[in-house]
Amino acid sequence: MSCIISPSLLSADFGNLERDIEMINDSRADWFHLDIMDGVFVPNISYGFPVIKSIAKHARKPLDAHLMIVDPDRYVSRFAEMGVEYLSVHYEACTHLHRTVQNIHGNGMKAGVAINPHTSVVLLENIICDCDFVLLMSVNPGFGGQSFIDNSVNKVKQLAELIKSRGADCFIEVDGGVSANNIKRLYDAGATAFVAGSSVFSAENPAAAIVDMKKECGF
Ligand code: DX5
Ligand code: ZN
Repeated sequence: MSCIISPSLLSADFGNLERDIEMINDSRADWFHLDIMDGVFVPNISYGFPVIKSIAKHARKPLDAHLMIVDPDRYVSRFAEMGVEYLSVHYEACTHLHRTVQNIHGNGMKAGVAINPHTSVVLLENIICDCDFVLLMSVNPGFGGQSFIDNSVNKVKQLAELIKSRGADCFIEVDGGVSANNIKRLYDAGATAFVAGSSVFSAENPAAAIVDMKKECGF
């Protein structure tokens, strides 16, 4: 088991982005989580390629990009060019999800399938052996700083069972409202990667908040 912490830069101070990136570089965090929103799939717009390019220039840890956009296939190769290693697309946004996963792999990246809080994990049974990870949303996508939806713990358990029953080589990443207060329950349920935005960047000591989450899981 592992306990990957992927701080979401959506909650960083964009006026001091380099400073916040260096903080993550120097911390015990594992990845950088990049939230890409198009104002169509979700009711918010975040940032695009010029900002991602700046992030990639300074980040010394893997980039984990979460696309909350319609028709993500149009941009898959661009994310690979930016140096993204983990790319997740939404189940709800992809008509030909299997093809999109193949496209991500064809561009040399790990493929993740993200699911909204209302989406049942059983819907993943025919894609679970093809993707590298599932990004299980524990808030409705679109904004940082929302409250954790408690049913997500049950969904992690169901997903862990599905992965096991299919013999899939797939890990579970949880995204939304994750903090030292709930990470242990998610870890015990079978998740091994965690996105944390506000619980890191709103903390008085962000690096210590990352350490606290790792400690909760025994790392
Ligand atoms: C929500 C994003 C999340 C979010 C996490 O749409 O996908 O990654 O930024 O932020 P917190 O941890 O504050 O919920
Ligand atoms: Zn995200």
